[in-house]
Amino acid sequence: MVKLIRSNNVYITLLHRCKYSTVPKSISTIHINGKDFKSDDYSNITPKILTYLGRNLHLQKGNPLSMVRQRIVNYFYKSFTHRGNPIFSIYDNLSPIVTVKQNFDDLLIPLHHPSRAKQDCYYINKDLLFRAHMTAHQSELLRAGLNNFLMIGDVYRRDEIDSTHFPVFHQVDAVRSQRKEELFNSNPDLEIFEPSFDTKKPKVLNDITDSSKQSCHTLEATKLMETQLKSHLIGLIQALFGKDIKYRWVDAYFPFTHPSWELEIFYENKWMEVLGCGIVRNEILAAAGPNNSIAYAFGLGLERLAMALYNIPDIRLMWSKDSGFLNQFANKDVDAKITYKPISLYPQCVNDISFWLPNDLTIDTFMSNDFYDLVRDIGGDIIEQVKLKDKFVHPKTKKHSVCYSIVYRHLERTLTQFEVNKIHKEIEKAVTDSYNVVIR
Ligand code: PHE
Repeated sequence: MVKLIRSNNVYITLLHRCKYSTVPKSISTIHINGKDFKSDDYSNITPKILTYLGRNLHLQKGNPLSMVRQRIVNYFYKSFTHRGNPIFSIYDNLSPIVTVKQNFDDLLIPLHHPSRAKQDCYYINKDLLFRAHMTAHQSELLRAGLNNFLMIGDVYRRDEIDSTHFPVFHQVDAVRSQRKEELFNSNPDLEIFEPSFDTKKPKVLNDITDSSKQSCHTLEATKLMETQLKSHLIGLIQALFGKDIKYRWVDAYFPFTHPSWELEIFYENKWMEVLGCGIVRNEILAAAGPNNSIAYAFGLGLERLAMALYNIPDIRLMWSKDSGFLNQFANKDVDAKITYKPISLYPQCVNDISFWLPNDLTIDTFMSNDFYDLVRDIGGDIIEQVKLKDKFVHPKTKKHSVCYSIVYRHLERTLTQFEVNKIHKEIEKAVTDSYNVVIR
């Protein structure tokens, strides 16, 4: 019998109907890459998501993501050397299966922080998930004694569906740490830590109510790190896009850095966020080893940079195996200026789906990410977008009704309305079976 990999009954139905190679063999285990994992009521990875595991687009020669990765690595190799040797080490092959401790606890992410929600992550079970960011590896690499390193790989987040969002994307994360002698080599009188702070006994939590710094750090150390961090990242963005790229810094909040910022670049008449960064919380450094240094960290998304650099209009193209796409990047120098020319845009088919929610659900409590995953599980990569088109509450019955438009488009051929209707019917059936809704 085909078994459940998810707590609601969506996937029982699904697994019966589709021929997934990764179908779990028993009700309590999930099979991934030859390993069995216990499932529980946290388990929400879908058969579709499993198919992205191991594609490693960031390492495929000739994939735009891999080209951007190479350019970023080159920048760090070239910009930071000691006696002619690069000081950054690169980790681009770490397993995406991480513990809740790695992804959240080690990074001081509070227990009830929204980023931990099942709604936002792909959990294997309550202890393991597909990493939601590359920062998940920060503590273990610090613990291994590294000071300057890049972590590059695929990350997984449940999200909406459109041309710039895909549930799997790629990040480059980095840490650069320095001791007093390195940071203040021309100013040996200056200190990293406030005199009142005992580095041997780092407090459980430092005060971060002062927006300019962590309570343990001196303002001089924080400001110098901020200046370096920002100039290194602007240097990177200019190395990628040229000196004329328009950018701005925005104050931000991350549980694992303070102060924190985001960098936005101006692209296609809009500000687009490309990275988050900040000064690593001292508690993280102290818990992982180095209690006498200060570090900055950042995390950037490869897809957005690649889309902007090469003019790639749709994030799904990164996954394309079509030669019309791949040949535009194959055998090119990584620094070559490439402008993607659409192979041809095949027409879209748009079908609406409307349903009444069951009595106990409202528009706000309806789990739309579950619904998006379900749509993508059935429709696969031809789902271009799912957008909420309309919602209303029946004046008499008080029942809530929603209408979504599902945009179907194949990147490599024209879809017929006939085949789209068939898939659409399957989606309607699965939604009815799993959410107890009534199709209108
Ligand atoms: N992990 C953050 C994200 O995914 C980015 C980040 C990394 C921010 C390191 C600060 C420091 O959005």
